[in-house]
Amino acid sequence: MLSEKMQNALNSQINKEIYSSYLYLAMSMYFEAEDLAGAASWMRTQVLEEMSHADKFMSYVNERGGRVFLEAIEKPAVSWESPLDAFNGALDHERFISASINDLVSLAREEKDFMSDNFFQWFVAEQVEEEASVSEVIRMFKLAGGAGGGLLMIDRELGSRVFTPPATN
Ligand code: FEO
Repeated sequence: MLSEKMQNALNSQINKEIYSSYLYLAMSMYFEAEDLAGAASWMRTQVLEEMSHADKFMSYVNERGGRVFLEAIEKPAVSWESPLDAFNGALDHERFISASINDLVSLAREEKDFMSDNFFQWFVAEQVEEEASVSEVIRMFKLAGGAGGGLLMIDRELGSRVFTPPATN
């Protein structure tokens, strides 16, 4: 059985994951407006990843006999100064999510809830990948230096990303 405090923390994390999905959807729409179809598609894949994270958390709460309460999702920004600015925003957001996962681990250890601790370890590893994949895109944009031809090449590369659903628990 989940403690009330843990259930609340998990519900808050579910909200953050759904917000992440919404934020990346907003970024995808920004890239569509900027005629960067590959970056828009990359973000659409990220939208699916984030919903799969939310789904994993929701399934876990239900498996532990808890209750999921869905809250309002905050409105995301609608535009960014440049593609690099959007991806920098994505990296900041992923770091915020990593810190939030770390807080969940701390709470699980405080409460000696080792089932939750074990469950959260998947997300600890996932956040390493999440930060690395966004950092890689930032590195590519910085190398291209905003130049037209380089930007188009990066956009084509970003368009090749596909969504791979995470393994179930
Ligand atoms: Fe669900 Fe991108 O962290």
